[in-house]
Amino acid sequence: MDKIIQGDTKEQISCLGLGTMYFGTKVDEQTSFTILDYYTENGGNFLDSANKYASWIPGFFGGESEHLIGKWMKQKANRERMFIASKVGFPYGAIPRSLKKEIIISECEKSLKRLGTDSIDLYYAHAYDSETPTEESVEAFYRLKREGKIRFAGASNYSSWQLSEANTVANQQGWEGFSCIQQQHTYLEPLLRTSFGNQVILTPEMEKFCAVKNIRIIAYSPLLGGVYTKTDNELPIQYQNSGSAPKLRILNQIAGELQVSANAVVLAWMIQHSPSVIPLVSGSSLNQIKENLQVLKFKLSKQQLDRLNQTISNEA
Ligand SMILES: NC(=O)c1ccc[n+]([C@@H]2O[C@H](COP(=O)([O-])OP(=O)(O)OC[C@H]3O[C@@H](n4cnc5c(N)ncnc54)[C@H](OP(=O)(O)O)[C@@H]3O)[C@@H](O)[C@H]2O)c1
Repeated sequence: MDKIIQGDTKEQISCLGLGTMYFGTKVDEQTSFTILDYYTENGGNFLDSANKYASWIPGFFGGESEHLIGKWMKQKANRERMFIASKVGFPYGAIPRSLKKEIIISECEKSLKRLGTDSIDLYYAHAYDSETPTEESVEAFYRLKREGKIRFAGASNYSSWQLSEANTVANQQGWEGFSCIQQQHTYLEPLLRTSFGNQVILTPEMEKFCAVKNIRIIAYSPLLGGVYTKTDNELPIQYQNSGSAPKLRILNQIAGELQVSANAVVLAWMIQHSPSVIPLVSGSSLNQIKENLQVLKFKLSKQQLDRLNQTISNEA
């Protein structure tokens, strides 16, 4: 698996991250470990988690994904080879949605303990908090960095002005700002102004901003829950528009030409995008992960990229 530079840092991370949101809850320990083994055997080193994963699954409370990663790293004695990301800011259990200083600091301590590590490589603000002054949140991330408890800070579910504001505030103080942004992003395009609730999609404006500021883009939910290959799954409502059918036709044609899964083509399209996007690949079984990691075995040609990128009008 190719390694790429994380934003304006010198850190090398794999071009494909592994989403671990359901590890230790919906995906049992044995399956999760098998997936983690397969991903790392194929050269991956970038694991994405969060403090609240996966508190919304009945019978669980949050922290299960981090705990499972910690257990697996201990068993494999591979902490030094992994690049671990976690997040703070969304609510779970008694923890409110907040980027207040005390929440950022105390949640980081809990995450460190669950992960069984002294330092989190990448610690995200999981969502913008309009009620806490940006200075306060940015300073808390800086303090964690200064104390060696995190190595880099990132933002998720921010708009471009929110990211710009946070990094301006940080830079004015001589601190490093957010080195990456994690947004919802896939091959199909939603209608403009469609609501995604708490989730924020990658916009062309954010892409331009990140290119100018050398901020790494990371895509979550790249496979839209598997709809590209699951014939029984309906497209999420936000993607039910006139552009989706022609885009899916092109995607499936190219998957057919290359004899690979449409999921792998979506991931390849992101990795080969300019500037490149790191997709967080996920799956609930080893077979799904194997299918998705077909992406490591081919490159899209320029002609195929042009076909995938052609402008297709998008209406309700
Ligand atoms: N920052 C944020 O706010 C945020 C939000 C969401 C996620 N994330 C991160 O992004 C990661 C990925 O998100 P996601 O789970 O929403 O990703 P996704 O790519 O939209 O969906 C992954 C799901 O698609 C299905 N799938 C995957 N490969 C498949 C295949 N080959 N064939 C058929 N179905 C397949 C599986 O669902 P089934 O189990 O149902 O088969 C799998 O759990 C998460 O683990 C998390 O780390 C971040």
